[in-house]
Amino acid sequence: MTQLSYEQLKEKYVALEKELQLYKGLLKQLHFPFKYVDYKLGLSIEKRREHPDPIIHSFHPDGTKTSEFNFQIDPQIDWPFEQVESFLAPILDLVPHHIVFVDGNGIITLCNLQAANDMGVDRDSVIGKHMRDLLQLPDELIMTLKTIETNEPIYNQEVLDRYYGIINTRIIHNPDGTIKRVISMFQSLNMIKETEKLSLAGRIAAGIAHEIRNPLTTVRGYLQFFRDKLPNDIVNLIDKLLIPELDRANEIITDFLNIAKPGELKMEKIHINKFIRDDLGILLRSEALLHNVTVHYDLDEQLANYDVEIDKNQLLQVFLNLFRNSIEAKVTKTMNVSISSRLHNNTVKIKFCDDGPGIPSTIVDHIFDPFFSTKETGTGLGLPLSRKIIELHKGSMKVESNNHGTCFIIELPVIKKQPSK
Ligand SMILES: Nc1ncnc2c1ncn2[C@@H]1O[C@H](COP(=O)(O)OP(=O)(O)O)[C@@H](O)[C@H]1O
Ligand SMILES: [Mg+2]
Repeated sequence: MTQLSYEQLKEKYVALEKELQLYKGLLKQLHFPFKYVDYKLGLSIEKRREHPDPIIHSFHPDGTKTSEFNFQIDPQIDWPFEQVESFLAPILDLVPHHIVFVDGNGIITLCNLQAANDMGVDRDSVIGKHMRDLLQLPDELIMTLKTIETNEPIYNQEVLDRYYGIINTRIIHNPDGTIKRVISMFQSLNMIKETEKLSLAGRIAAGIAHEIRNPLTTVRGYLQFFRDKLPNDIVNLIDKLLIPELDRANEIITDFLNIAKPGELKMEKIHINKFIRDDLGILLRSEALLHNVTVHYDLDEQLANYDVEIDKNQLLQVFLNLFRNSIEAKVTKTMNVSISSRLHNNTVKIKFCDDGPGIPSTIVDHIFDPFFSTKETGTGLGLPLSRKIIELHKGSMKVESNNHGTCFIIELPVIKKQPSK
């Protein structure tokens, strides 16, 4: 072992002393009291609320026990709310909604960047001003002020004034029960991205659709119940018009709900060519005959070595939708429909084509939009529902069309079959 010189020892001592200062300084910065005891060393360090400097105790070491930590944080005293606010401010700037904190008098104490930008003000200059100066609205329309007045938070309330959106307010009380802060968060529906708007609209519409379906069922039930007690001409009206109209409305709602909230798929492994030739083929045969449509099949034999996982009924529904659209687009006496399958990378590409008049390029971008229809009695739900079903199968659905016809291209994942032993 080498002996350290006096100079070296001194240097080491100074370094250790500096390090100790650093630790002490760090502990001073902590706002809350705590105690840390190391029984092996026989030392403890403690920070008390009324003492800024940490206190070190030494005692007889007890080798059997190790260390122990003890915090006593009082959020009201140790972290004054102003400090929490300055900590939160830069984080809240990242939130794409308006977040404003006011005190019990409606004076702004925090305003995030999104709120300041949308109101066209400088976020630091509004601190200390009244909420009405920020919003430029009469007091009775300002939900934050209403919260102060009533001492009640507001949950998901729709606002329909100059700013359209959803407001939430929450109250932070002082220990004596008075209002410390009202926090308000405003989610503007004007600035949500288009896709989010669609999904939000979908959720709202699905809720409404449910509400409509229940009374429809009740009305239908009553009509059938009273049917036998009514004169003939009314029975006729019920059978020919009212019940079919109610059923049609119900069907539209069912389709719509399936897009907004699809049910569960009953998956099974199938051979796709067999499905197209047999299941689908049989389904299309009679309708094809009825409408003078010839269906051609062109199936890739390589696919015999692959499985596709599908919900058969759902997939049949997709092709039936496509087939009906083709028939409804038919302008000549006869029509040809071709269905082909191709192995393509790890997918099967199914092309469903007709030689109808095609889809005008001006509307082709909209055909998958819910309720888009060019037909007098169309619902505009066939294609969006079909695409939704394909997407639930982890596949994709596209369209190609010109004035010689229309092709829908569906791709679905395939799994290579294990060679049987
Ligand atoms: N094979 C096709 N040929 C021509 N136009 C089509 C074809 N398939 C769909 N379309 C167009 O797409 C629109 C939307 O179709 P869809 O979602 O099934 O609703 P709907 O059939 O109720 O109108 C149709 O109204 C039609 O304009
Ligand atoms: Mg349709």
